[in-house]
Amino acid sequence: MRVLGIESSCDETAAALVTDTGEVLADVIASQVAMHGPYGGIVPELASRAHMQAIIPVIREALAKAPGGLEGIDAIAVTQGPGLVGSLLVGVQVAKALAWSIGKPLVGVNHLDGHLLAVYLRRPGEDEPQSGPKMPYVGLLVSGGHTALYRVEAFDDIVLLAQTRDDAAGEAFDKAGKLLGLGYPGGPVIDRLAARGDVGAFSFPMPMASRKILDFSFSGLKTALARHVQQHGVPDDEQGLADLCASFQGVIVESLVRKSILACKQEELDQLVITGGVAANRGLRARAKEVCEDNGIRLFVPPPISCTDNAAMIAMAAAHRLAAGEQDDLSFAVYSRDPDRRRGKFRRDGTLVERK
Ligand code: KG4
Ligand code: ZN
Repeated sequence: MRVLGIESSCDETAAALVTDTGEVLADVIASQVAMHGPYGGIVPELASRAHMQAIIPVIREALAKAPGGLEGIDAIAVTQGPGLVGSLLVGVQVAKALAWSIGKPLVGVNHLDGHLLAVYLRRPGEDEPQSGPKMPYVGLLVSGGHTALYRVEAFDDIVLLAQTRDDAAGEAFDKAGKLLGLGYPGGPVIDRLAARGDVGAFSFPMPMASRKILDFSFSGLKTALARHVQQHGVPDDEQGLADLCASFQGVIVESLVRKSILACKQEELDQLVITGGVAANRGLRARAKEVCEDNGIRLFVPPPISCTDNAAMIAMAAAHRLAAGEQDDLSFAVYSRDPDRRRGKFRRDGTLVERK
């Protein structure tokens, strides 16, 4: 079965062709990052407009790799939420129109499921494709919008264990990048600088240091960095800046790794998957590998192309439902917040959850 995946929840317009066993046949991504850069963050209205311009060319490029083009696909999967509503609507409406016109099934996918299941994608050119983890496993999803731990029991049974109480880790990286004048997004630049710095050069408080709490928190760390910069300024020498980045990143990495290990212990699971844009961080990858080895935990980190927003993971997350002959009614709505695992405001069908 060949699934066309469509993703437009944030600032990447993406389309991919994936088989129901996770083989990636085509993967096309149009990133808006350069457009949002000067604003220091994503501007929702600009994002929606850019999706509208990019979506058809991106899908056309992905379909060019399918024998038979549009007729050669068996089903469509699209990100239904969470994300920016204006952005989500672009992908969902195009997906519905396509599914209707060719009479093929359509499934709406939770974007977070996509990130957590991206570990099962197999891409051409991977020398020795790592076989994915056996379910259940612990998933750490760490991106610009989310930082949370999950128990992934089955494709359709993903339980939220803990999440950040304020900022996501990627958001903390990006705010720090702005504060230090490193541009947007700050994560990759801080990662690069940190590689040459001394983790112990500056001391920042470890958030949620209790050994019992799984939750994350990064806004205090961001404030501590802001205070440091207020008092001492941004270091004007390269080594000083690298040391500051390494010390700041070190606390985020340590917090992410410690809580992930704690989740594995609490859930009595010995497999950990780290995914989302921040999983590209070299400091995080190295430290997680070290600590997992010490604790007898098998670590799985998909390649960066599968960790950041992409449509292949959306097709992958829909595959089990499509293979079982399921599909969604074409009237489904988008949701901005995760309806199942956060205190979302909307149900999957788009109706409002009444709060007493
Ligand atoms: O998953 P993603 O592409 O988009 C969503 O947020 O859904 O993640 C983007 C985030 C940004 O905050 C970016 O700064 C961060 O991932 N990021 C990194 C690195 N590469 C991307 N953070 C730290 N180190 C990196 N190498
Ligand atoms: Zn994402």
